[in-house]
Amino acid sequence: MKTRGKVLAGIVIVFLLLQLIQPSDNDMGNPGHTEFKVAFNVPDNIGMILRASCFDCHSNSTVYPWYAHIQPMGWWMNSHISNGKSELNFDEFNAYPLRRKLSKLKSMAERIEEEVMPLQSYTIIHRSAKLSNDEQKLVTDWINKTIDSLEKNK
Ligand code: HEC
Repeated sequence: MKTRGKVLAGIVIVFLLLQLIQPSDNDMGNPGHTEFKVAFNVPDNIGMILRASCFDCHSNSTVYPWYAHIQPMGWWMNSHISNGKSELNFDEFNAYPLRRKLSKLKSMAERIEEEVMPLQSYTIIHRSAKLSNDEQKLVTDWINKTIDSLEKNK
């Protein structure tokens, strides 16, 4: 075999070996009483926007596309999911103490307004996850209203 052939064969073998190491799926079932919508009275339209645009990285269940099971794509997605969840988890939101709830709500509104969330690398593929200006306003208005009422009742 020529050198180029050997290098190519090597690359193919490494790629195939990578497929043997699969991260486990983010699928922890029903969140129950710690869910975001248990903490607040979330209108259906707001709940649907958050679910469609944020839950793949900020909840205990991700809807995976087929290519998530091809490495190194899956590892890369897995790192977004574990970092995203550790910062903000809608399925555990109601278990957060009040101070943390408030600070997470504030940073949600900020990140939506600054258009840094959902991550751009995600909306390139999941186009429908990108929030329109109307959706941004709808969600941030609701978040700000919720922050006000939490602060009043503190
Ligand atoms: C593709 C994965 C992904 C999606 C989708 C996504 N996020 Fe994130 N998010 C992350 C990651 C990773 C981090 C942690 C790194 C960072 O802060 O940028 C994060 C961090 C955050 C933080 C910071 C938490 C803090 O304590 O300051 C907020 C708030 C947030 N995201 C809100 C949202 C909202 C709201 C949406 C939906 C509109 C969303 N994200 C969609 C991956 C995602």
